[in-house]
Amino acid sequence: MCGIVGYVGSKEATPVLINGLKKLEYRGYDSAGIAVLSESADEILVRKSKGALKFLEAKIADEVIKGSVGIGHTRWATHGEPSDLNSHPHTNVSGTIAVVHNGIIENYAKLKAWLQDQGIVFRSQTDTEVIAHLINYFYEKSGELFKAVLETLHKLEGSYALGVVCTKYPDRLIAARKESPLIVGLGKDENFIASDVPAVLEYTRDVYYLDQKEIAVLYSDHVDLFNEDGEKIHKEPSHVEWDLSSAEKDGYAHFMLKEIHEQPKVLDATIKAHVVYDEKKNPVDLTFSKEIESDRINEMIQNAKRIVITACGTSYHAGMVGKYAFEKFARIPTVVDVASEFRYRNPILNKDDVFIVISQSGETADTLAAMRLAKENGAKVIAITNVVGSTVSREADFVIYTLAGPEIAVASTKAYTTQLACLYMISMMFGYKNGKLPEAEYKKLLNELIKIPELSQKILENQEDVQKFASRQFNKSKIFYIGRQFDSASSLESALKLKEVSYMHCEAFAAGELKHGPIALIDNDTLVVAIATCPELYEKLVSNIVEVKSRGATTMCITQNKAEMSKACDEILEIPETDSTLESILSIIPAQLFAYYCSVQKGIDPDKPRNLAKSVTVE
Ligand code: F6R
Repeated sequence: MCGIVGYVGSKEATPVLINGLKKLEYRGYDSAGIAVLSESADEILVRKSKGALKFLEAKIADEVIKGSVGIGHTRWATHGEPSDLNSHPHTNVSGTIAVVHNGIIENYAKLKAWLQDQGIVFRSQTDTEVIAHLINYFYEKSGELFKAVLETLHKLEGSYALGVVCTKYPDRLIAARKESPLIVGLGKDENFIASDVPAVLEYTRDVYYLDQKEIAVLYSDHVDLFNEDGEKIHKEPSHVEWDLSSAEKDGYAHFMLKEIHEQPKVLDATIKAHVVYDEKKNPVDLTFSKEIESDRINEMIQNAKRIVITACGTSYHAGMVGKYAFEKFARIPTVVDVASEFRYRNPILNKDDVFIVISQSGETADTLAAMRLAKENGAKVIAITNVVGSTVSREADFVIYTLAGPEIAVASTKAYTTQLACLYMISMMFGYKNGKLPEAEYKKLLNELIKIPELSQKILENQEDVQKFASRQFNKSKIFYIGRQFDSASSLESALKLKEVSYMHCEAFAAGELKHGPIALIDNDTLVVAIATCPELYEKLVSNIVEVKSRGATTMCITQNKAEMSKACDEILEIPETDSTLESILSIIPAQLFAYYCSVQKGIDPDKPRNLAKSVTVE
């Protein structure tokens, strides 16, 4: 989604803005622009360009844009095609006010018609342009910029993160947010706004995470915060613990590959944060006491009649693995819903439901709406998220963090496996505490769980096998992933990864469904990848593989049991053995690597797949 940066200080703003926008490229964009208040403050210098940031950089390469207050934007088109004209920043007619915006103004058509009636001629097709003209309209009435911004915000329906500069107020930058994320970076004699922390991390680790409808006015030496009524508020800044190297490639060709390789480390951190050891260093229990008071969690577990999980995309697939885990370990019926569906179907919620939302970014619009709906219906929400200070983390009742560090590549990898680790841990704890998972089995599972990071490292050491396999298969016209139970959830996630970064046509099916229709698609230009980690279902899967092979498909299997599955498959990618219920954390890793290498083989940039945005903050 769009990226916003802003600067007030004594440095030249342009390089700071361009630098910040580069750090936000991962969010996905199709055009970019900056607006800098000229040194004499008599004009705003707006430069914008369709396409990658390098085109904007080329456009300004021969100019000296002097000025130390400015805003910048990477746009992901929603209203109006990607073009120079539709790129942000947008200005009022006289060019004295400039605005960058992330989000969607739902009532923009009405506002636009009204402004047109006042004689305003619009230059772009965007919803954002109304904001610049509205601020101008109110400014002309009151002569006060802050008041004009406030009045404008009251007229806007929908979502926004905003940055505003004005020639009449050359010492400041105004920012506001509703739904779309925005942070304020606090420097020494300089301050920043950004859609995400990496854009400011080179300059400061102290940030305000703006809450819903908060407004910030930034000067070079201080920042004032206000609520939606324009009353001054006070909040403590947060200190960002991770450093910039976590948000850089560290010698890897792409962020996606780096993040796949970080999985052993981040899984270890996520798991170890909850494991309790005895004096002989054996894992004996799990604790979430930092996240949920023990009384509360005990009550929740004893009363839980149903688990309801909602999320989108990859996080939804993690939820599907979670369903199998909750039903297996805790024997609690579990439903998993795509968040965009959940919110529109008048869902039935009961007071004894445990509601879990999963969101890497913590900002996904549909997931937030589902969570809010659940809360309105009286549910207590446990959130699994990766981003400290995100909206999900602030609005959920209890937050369990995946300690994956910043995930920059658009396609989610390390966030997914750490989400699985959290779901396994919560479901195991529920099962142990509600008496459905016997102690001996619980402890055995814990023992296996803490070894998972090391086992994931072993898969990465054999990544060349996957690379070679990808180089033989990347031009197949159809790819199908199949699996049963936990493996059917992993198949969905494997297929999504491949679609996202290689644009190959790929589908996933519960293996038993093949003969009910999809088998008609099989021919000799098809690759079928079976994920086989459930020993009790090997035989069934072998039959499925034989069925597709006899119809011409090339077959490959991701499994911990090479001996069994090589009876039927052309190729095997072996994964290490652990408790079969935990294999989902491992079986996805070869699929992530396969997607990555197919992408590279096809000359695609896996970090920035077409049409996709990292954090989907609009519906
Ligand atoms: C796929 C991917 C997306 C996200 C989805 C939800 O690789 O990353 O499918 O999983 O947009 O995002 P979060 O988890 O941030 O709510």
